[in-house]
Amino acid sequence: MLPTRRSLLTAFLAIPALPIASIQEAAAQRPRVPLTPACGNDRELTLARTAGPFYKPDAPMRHELFADSPGGERITLAGYVLDRNCRPLGNSLVEIWHADETGAYDTSGFRLRAHQFTDANGRWWFATVVPARYSGRTRHYHLRVQRRGGRLLTTQLFFPNEPGNARDRLYSDALLLEISNTADGKLGRFDFVV
Ligand SMILES: [Fe+2]
Repeated sequence: MLPTRRSLLTAFLAIPALPIASIQEAAAQRPRVPLTPACGNDRELTLARTAGPFYKPDAPMRHELFADSPGGERITLAGYVLDRNCRPLGNSLVEIWHADETGAYDTSGFRLRAHQFTDANGRWWFATVVPARYSGRTRHYHLRVQRRGGRLLTTQLFFPNEPGNARDRLYSDALLLEISNTADGKLGRFDFVV
């Protein structure tokens, strides 16, 4: 049986607080989300991408966006914000905005728009929906990420195995979400390096 989206997120968020026995137990259950970031010195900075025409400031601070588009396919996006030496960056800004399951952006209100700050371990997550493709673009999310006092990164994240990826001039393999299918929706993992 597949683990649930929520159990994978819970495992991802709970690890630093768990005793060793629980970590081994969690590892034995083979969670599909890596429990720690893949580390290495001098990692490449996450690529920047244009914000596009649909960004608007002042999105609310929240983790849960699913209620904005209850007809959409559930997905939880999660990962770390890291520096180039793989150190987690707590209290970093992560902002998201994206199209709904019909490919439309909310330009009058704040549906599917939110921001948050990473926790003390540098982790971010949003519970939302899978966006539809829209004219001229492959499937994508828009994000902005900023470590405390740092430069603002504007970028986009993409889905694997999308036919439109190869035709989209903003697409990059380096901006692919790592997608897991769970019993109650998808989980998409990405670590930002800023
Ligand atoms: Fe877009």
